[in-house]
Amino acid sequence: MLRNPNINKNKTNGGLMNKLKFKLGLLILSIGLLGFVLFYPQGADVPYPEGYRGWTHIKSMILEKGHPLYDAFGGIHHVYANKTALAGYKAGNKFKDGSVIVFDLFEAVSKDNAITEGNRKVVGVMVKNSKKYKNTGGWGFEGFAGDSRNRVVKNMEGECFACHMQAKEKDFVFSEYRK
Ligand code: HEC
Repeated sequence: MLRNPNINKNKTNGGLMNKLKFKLGLLILSIGLLGFVLFYPQGADVPYPEGYRGWTHIKSMILEKGHPLYDAFGGIHHVYANKTALAGYKAGNKFKDGSVIVFDLFEAVSKDNAITEGNRKVVGVMVKNSKKYKNTGGWGFEGFAGDSRNRVVKNMEGECFACHMQAKEKDFVFSEYRK
């Protein structure tokens, strides 16, 4: 059988190339991972509040056209608290880590002299973890669009916390518990 002496040579080169490619691949992967860790959107770790419809209802409110927050939060919203957050409300807005508060916003449909809930617009969430979210008053903020699990908050500090700062004296929570 005739053997082409170049075959072996090519094999060796191929092996070397593969090793180089592998190392290059690792390098790209590491850079990618580092970028991911450094630039991962803040708040992307606030979980969807599974089961919040079974939590305690704190209050509801309707923002009508003309309200300064209409564009962002116009409609009917209901606020819910998990057990830890409920204790925080009852203590006069002093919330412990593990508190989760939900702002469930719907379109307000006005028809036949009644206002009813339309489509869900957003599920807003605040999660208390004083270490993790120390830059935003100990609260992680997130919003989930409509009935989906799609996250809407890119920058919790600018989009949410900047305004919730106004409720600083009440642990950054505007709403209060009523009997
Ligand atoms: C311009 C001001 C403003 C911005 C911006 C804002 N909020 Fe609020 N938020 C309020 C007000 C006012 C209330 C109280 C509503 C009520 O009393 O029913 C509230 C209530 C809430 C509540 C219920 C707990 C509480 O504070 O009463 C949650 C949860 C919430 N917001 C999440 C968010 C999230 C998430 C974002 C960012 C996407 C956000 N908010 C952005 C003004 C704001």
